[in-house]
Amino acid sequence: MKIFIIFTFYLISGSVRCFDVTGYSGGSVLVNSWKLWCNYCFNYMAKHDPWTNIINDMKHNQWSKEGRFTLYRDKYGNLMIFIKELNTTDAGRYRIGVHGRWFIEMTLNVKQDSCCGVSKRVMVNSGETANFSCEYSQDYKNDEKIIYKEGRNSTEMISSTWVKKEKFSISDDRYKNLFSVTSAAVTPDDGGVYLCGVQVYRHSYSYSVITTTAHLHIMNKVGSYRVTGYSGGQIIIKCEHPQYKTNPKYICKESDGCSERKYPGVENKWMEDGDVSLYDDTRGGVLMVFFRDLNAGDAGTYRCGVNVSQYMESFTEVTLDVKEDFSMNIIIYVCVLLLIKTLTLMFNVGQIKRQR
Ligand SMILES: *[C@@H]1O[C@H](CO)[C@@H](O)[C@H](O)[C@H]1NC(C)=O
Ligand SMILES: *[C@@H]1O[C@H](CO)[C@@H](O)[C@H](O)[C@H]1NC(C)=O
Ligand SMILES: *[C@@H]1O[C@H](CO)[C@@H](O)[C@H](O)[C@H]1NC(C)=O
Ligand SMILES: *[C@@H]1O[C@H](CO)[C@@H](O)[C@H](O)[C@H]1NC(C)=O
Repeated sequence: MKIFIIFTFYLISGSVRCFDVTGYSGGSVLVNSWKLWCNYCFNYMAKHDPWTNIINDMKHNQWSKEGRFTLYRDKYGNLMIFIKELNTTDAGRYRIGVHGRWFIEMTLNVKQDSCCGVSKRVMVNSGETANFSCEYSQDYKNDEKIIYKEGRNSTEMISSTWVKKEKFSISDDRYKNLFSVTSAAVTPDDGGVYLCGVQVYRHSYSYSVITTTAHLHIMNKVGSYRVTGYSGGQIIIKCEHPQYKTNPKYICKESDGCSERKYPGVENKWMEDGDVSLYDDTRGGVLMVFFRDLNAGDAGTYRCGVNVSQYMESFTEVTLDVKEDFSMNIIIYVCVLLLIKTLTLMFNVGQIKRQR
């Protein structure tokens, strides 16, 4: 009886709010506490059992982060709880609050399902359309679909099926249990981590179940040129990145889908890598690629790129034509002619000898 009274008291006074949240292994959850963030206070997060602190600091004014766990202040002043790359071992009871002011209790369930918890990489050229899809469990067919972008110190909603935004549009395919996110004419600033999933509304709280994490890489093409070499000969391709002298530079073959990127790995020194040698000149911001022994297979389009930032690359497209070496052909031609002449001559001499 006593317990019951205490329990009702808590419910009425509202001093402890408890709720359940469900996420997917590999995915994330983003929970709005609907309680106020406190600047320069100890905003904390602890896990049962036994109670252990995950976050308990006031290092930053508007956010606290510890590994995959983040607490931050959203633009309305609420404390947001963000847990990413969920693991089944994360399931359990959490207490989140501001010391001396308020706390809430959250029970986290972590499901495993092939639909959800995927992470993908999307590469798109600057100016072109980015398009990726997010799957969800069919339990969420009728819920709001939502997309966020992870910022340095907060994660903000970009668009949703209920709150349409210009930049990113969502089209929901309820039969396939997925929605596609499209953004026309992306700019280098659009690179980053996008989180998509569904928004769940409950009686007194709401949260987002993030089912897909899309890493959007923007490739910025800054120029293109053509070079011609001769089969059996040598050639140096120069890729100039004067703005990014010391950034990592690479070359890869576009016609092979750029599956193998070659980075010199060392600065200001020739490095052999398969059929080519690479030199990263960090004083001039130039990558030199030396083809020692050209052959017809080397012909194609190459991407000469530089990692500008984690989600942005800049590149020049180089088309390499490899021609048959005509001077070599002429030498062979002359040799064959000479050989025929000599043979005929020998044959004739033989015949004359026999006639005698
Ligand atoms: C959070 O990031 C925004 C821009 O990304 C910046 O203006 C703001 O000062 C940052 N806040 C903190 C507390 O670092
Ligand atoms: C979950 O954590 C365990 C142990 O910490 C680890 O072995 C496993 O790979 C993790 N699973 C995922 C999906 O990250
Ligand atoms: C791109 O978006 C359209 C809808 O605008 C969708 O039908 C298509 O499947 C998407 N493509 C990819 C690769 O996601
Ligand atoms: C350059 O960026 C790509 C992704 O865009 C990444 O896979 C690669 O590891 C980066 N390379 C270096 C040397 O930082």
